[in-house]
Amino acid sequence: MNQAYEKLLNCYESCRKRIDFVPKIALVLGSGLGDYAEGIRVEAVLDYQDIEGFPRSTVEGHQGRFVFGYVKEIPLVCMQGRVHYYEGYPISDVVLPIRLMKLMGAEALFLTNAAGGVNTAYEPGDFMLIRDHISSFVPSPLIGPNSNSLGPRFCDMSDTYDARLRQVIKETAGRLEIPLKEGVYLQFTGPQYETPAEIRMARGLGADAVGMSTACEAVAANHMGMHICGISCITNMAAGVTENPLSHEEVQETADRVAPLFKHLVTESIAAVAQAISEEEG
Ligand code: HPA
Repeated sequence: MNQAYEKLLNCYESCRKRIDFVPKIALVLGSGLGDYAEGIRVEAVLDYQDIEGFPRSTVEGHQGRFVFGYVKEIPLVCMQGRVHYYEGYPISDVVLPIRLMKLMGAEALFLTNAAGGVNTAYEPGDFMLIRDHISSFVPSPLIGPNSNSLGPRFCDMSDTYDARLRQVIKETAGRLEIPLKEGVYLQFTGPQYETPAEIRMARGLGADAVGMSTACEAVAANHMGMHICGISCITNMAAGVTENPLSHEEVQETADRVAPLFKHLVTESIAAVAQAISEEEG
């Protein structure tokens, strides 16, 4: 058994000793959605630090815990605080929580993040449904011996962000009259924000938004056969798009400003996603 898989199973056992909740959906909360868990009918909370061998987030403002409960009667686990590659963890640790949520029963992964707008038609405060991603200088979490019990050696990435789920999320946003862009998310390692030249490169490659998470998580989830969808909150225009310098404060400020709308969109989308998956299962 390879090391990453063994570590995952140990974490899984450590979780299951404490919690027997079976989620249908796994939700990853990005900046600005950190307090989303307040809207969940909470059944149980598990601090990352109480899971043996689990990587811990070191970023200010990112709480580290799983919250298990219900949103509109849908059982879900939500990650309040994710693990970032720039914190110094091996990439297999960065995606360990995603794999863990799948082992706990989650069939779908709902990713959220804060991102910089690369597409010049975007504005801070916009929401972008992720159609596809580009992983730039971030190693694949699938490098190393493959665990066949998780997924195949060579996994197909041609429909990573499930077309059906994108459709139901677009319909949901339309019904709520919340404008929703759709585009390509590019993951850089961070933690520094990009240079204007890197942003021009990202645009040339076809990116609409950039951030420091998400793509590697989607790779691990896709490997395990999860349904995946994601929404970025455009918190700032990326470097060089405007004259403004970038700051974590601006990211946080925009995220806080649009948080109520983002939460509304995510809650209603979760219901639509859960229904779409159930219909698919028949
Ligand atoms: N770049 C990278 N990550 C980000 C940004 C950005 O401009 N904004 C929020 N997260």
